[in-house]
Amino acid sequence: MNDPKQSPLSGLGMATTALHAGRHLTAERENSPALFLTSSFVFQSAAQAQAIFAGTEEGNIYSRFTNPSVAAFEERIAAMENGEQALATASGMAAITTLFLAFLSAGDHLVLSRSVFGSTTTIANTLLARMGIRTSHVALSDIEAWRQAITPETRMFYLETPANPTLELADLSALAQLAAEHRILLAVDNVFCTPCLQRPLDLGADLVIHSATKYMDGQGRVMGGAIIGRRDLLMGHVYPFLRNTGPVLSPFNAWVLFKGLETLPLRIERQCDHAERIANHLAERLQPPMVVHYPGLASHPQHPLAARQMRRFGAIVCLDVGSLDQAHRFIDSLQLITITANLGDVRTLVTHPATTTHGRLTPDMRAAAGVTDGLVRLSIGLEDVPDIIADLDHALAQIQP
Ligand SMILES: Cc1ncc(COP(=O)(O)O)c(C=O)c1O
Repeated sequence: MNDPKQSPLSGLGMATTALHAGRHLTAERENSPALFLTSSFVFQSAAQAQAIFAGTEEGNIYSRFTNPSVAAFEERIAAMENGEQALATASGMAAITTLFLAFLSAGDHLVLSRSVFGSTTTIANTLLARMGIRTSHVALSDIEAWRQAITPETRMFYLETPANPTLELADLSALAQLAAEHRILLAVDNVFCTPCLQRPLDLGADLVIHSATKYMDGQGRVMGGAIIGRRDLLMGHVYPFLRNTGPVLSPFNAWVLFKGLETLPLRIERQCDHAERIANHLAERLQPPMVVHYPGLASHPQHPLAARQMRRFGAIVCLDVGSLDQAHRFIDSLQLITITANLGDVRTLVTHPATTTHGRLTPDMRAAAGVTDGLVRLSIGLEDVPDIIADLDHALAQIQP
């Protein structure tokens, strides 16, 4: 857990940071990082154990507390998000649960975007409700709705932008200003963008959440998550929670993710190129009422905000094919694109949110979140674009001759 702000690397570009931040050679002078696959660390004496436990001497104790492979990943992702500190978790949902439980107490109030990953809504409505933490669900892009939801007990705003899977956006600078006026923490799930496309902390957010399972790994291998922000928030609230309750990242997964970050800027750039070409193709190909959603298209209602707030428009493209039956027939007709619940992979993936990732929400909650029965989510990968377009056209021909 080194401070990236103290690093000689600060001020370097994103690709350089992704390759060099968090790199600490051991006495073996390895070029690729060592993997510290150990649950505990050895003390030279009982007195040293006492000193390290007491915090009067620095050092690793136990991998639920700190681990060098995990610390390397934390340092790298903190540098990429321009945060003072990152703490890694076992998954994205572990990061989100940790965030809520580390900052919210009985009697507190959370304002949550209606358009968030299904499990995030479920946690708010079940676990947090059971603990006496009240949630108001508001429309992501409606700043007045956020303002009106504020009560004296409001402690946190939580949102995704672009949201999964609607690709609706929030104006982060405007929300950060509103949150700051009321001394409310603004937490942003930055999974769809990664720091390569959007850095919420630079726009005024207090905390950033990641599912590292997605683009950071990028190859569909391991689960992971992270919370990034100011050192006082991370070390004062998140670290004690993680250390005592234990939803931490495994050293092996941290090692995989550390390497995954090295190619993230390159992968994202190329995946954005592909997504833009595919979204443009679908916009020409689809006949109303079928529609394509992509923040990079001029037809996206928040295209000007996307152009201002995001460096590029991301690699998730959604289409609405009208009904559940049409969506399932379209998906089943794809021959190359993989049906799976993940996103951010180098292979192009397809998901039907209404019956999978958002399937546990009530129909009313799904409708409020904008997850229609006909919505299909594509996570665009690195295949040759003409091959993906041919697969999509073939499947579309089965439902829209
Ligand atoms: C936007 C978003 N946030 C958080 C998560 C949860 O991450 P994980 O699956 O790593 O727990 C997901 C998972 O799909 C997601 O899409």
